[in-house]
Amino acid sequence: MNILVTGGAGFIGSHVVRRLVNTYPNYHIFNLDALTYAGNLENLTDVESASNYTFIKGDITDVDFIDALFVEHKFDGVIHLAAESHVDRSITDPMAFVKTNVMGTVHLLNAFKSVWQDNYKGKRFYHVSTDEVYGSLGKTGLFTETTSYDPNSPYSASKASSDHFVRAYGETYGMPYVISNCSNNYGPNHFPEKLIPLFINNIIQNKPLPVYGDGNYTRDWLFVEDHARAIDLVFHDGNNGETYNIGGFNEWTNLNLVKLLCQQMDEKLGRPTGESEKLITYVKDRPGHDLRYAIDSTKINKELGWKPSVTFEEGLAKTIDWYLENEEWLSSVTSGAYQAYYKKQYQ
Ligand code: NAD
Ligand code: DAU
Repeated sequence: MNILVTGGAGFIGSHVVRRLVNTYPNYHIFNLDALTYAGNLENLTDVESASNYTFIKGDITDVDFIDALFVEHKFDGVIHLAAESHVDRSITDPMAFVKTNVMGTVHLLNAFKSVWQDNYKGKRFYHVSTDEVYGSLGKTGLFTETTSYDPNSPYSASKASSDHFVRAYGETYGMPYVISNCSNNYGPNHFPEKLIPLFINNIIQNKPLPVYGDGNYTRDWLFVEDHARAIDLVFHDGNNGETYNIGGFNEWTNLNLVKLLCQQMDEKLGRPTGESEKLITYVKDRPGHDLRYAIDSTKINKELGWKPSVTFEEGLAKTIDWYLENEEWLSSVTSGAYQAYYKKQYQ
């Protein structure tokens, strides 16, 4: 099988590519990535010379390039992760999200459709999406696969739109698809614009930890390798036309999470207990900030036997260790354009 993974040089994509290359020597894994600020081939040095792996630099919004690529390689399966993924950036530049997340997804659907001429036996298009499409929960309740879509940010609106297009191609053209909607991931190779890696980097550097609003927003956190394992499972064993919610049953308010992070970092850096917590600084809230996300992952557990493999404390400790052992990675991704982004976002 020729499998195309889009966005494979990004955070989650790199864990998916590694897993597929190592687990399925009989597949050829093509990693298509535009290498935006979030894409980094350093994430994949351990598999870059594997005989069943090929990296292709390219943009999913380039129609001619995408069409030609599908004609050349006739991908049997697509696992689509390429996206603009940061909510704060979507607030300042929504069009970039429309272009990549909506139009890019539709270009891929068209190319897949065109190359198989609606004759899809043994083929599959897998769209990797987010729980943010469901909007915000109040203090109780969980998102299930039948929760209505109610996106609040340009990012989640663009992901919701792309989910709808995938579903529409299934209904209209009989394209075999699966979609999964996952909660907040964390782990190695996470770009330090997102809460956990940004705060790890700032703690290392003794810089303020910018908590939005009062910090009482809740997210459900999942270790990235558990998400990659779920993606592998859904791709192979999920039923066509189905959606699977993926989450950790692991809710934390941002403030409690940051306190746990500070505590673990103090221990690992040999700082006095409470030292890093002093860096917490309350800053202006994110506009349209969703109060709470929480996933009901009963369906994937019951139907495919998936459940998270690590506790949050274990996963967070592994994540911190990775960042402390990979300071070169961290300093290379936080130089240059990152400094300008940080200044604009936080000053
Ligand atoms: P990321 O920002 O780390 O990586 C995105 C990757 O896509 C990068 O390598 C980037 O270079 C590539 N890319 C961006 N635009 C492209 C384009 N036009 N053409 C080709 N490649 C392009 O994102 P992530 O956090 O790894 O998220 C991956 C996917 O998973 C996204 O679709 C996201 O919506 C979804 N998701 C993320 C989370 C999370 O917590 N991070 C949770 C649920 C779902
Ligand atoms: O739920 C899945 C989604 O999780 C994914 O689809 C997105 O791609 C991913 O970025 C993530 O979105 P969030 O907006 O939840 O993640 P982020 O790390 O940006 O923020 C987590 C919480 O922390 C959120 O309530 C905002 C808050 N926050 C974030 C940053 C970057 C802060 O308080 N300060 C910050 O500096």
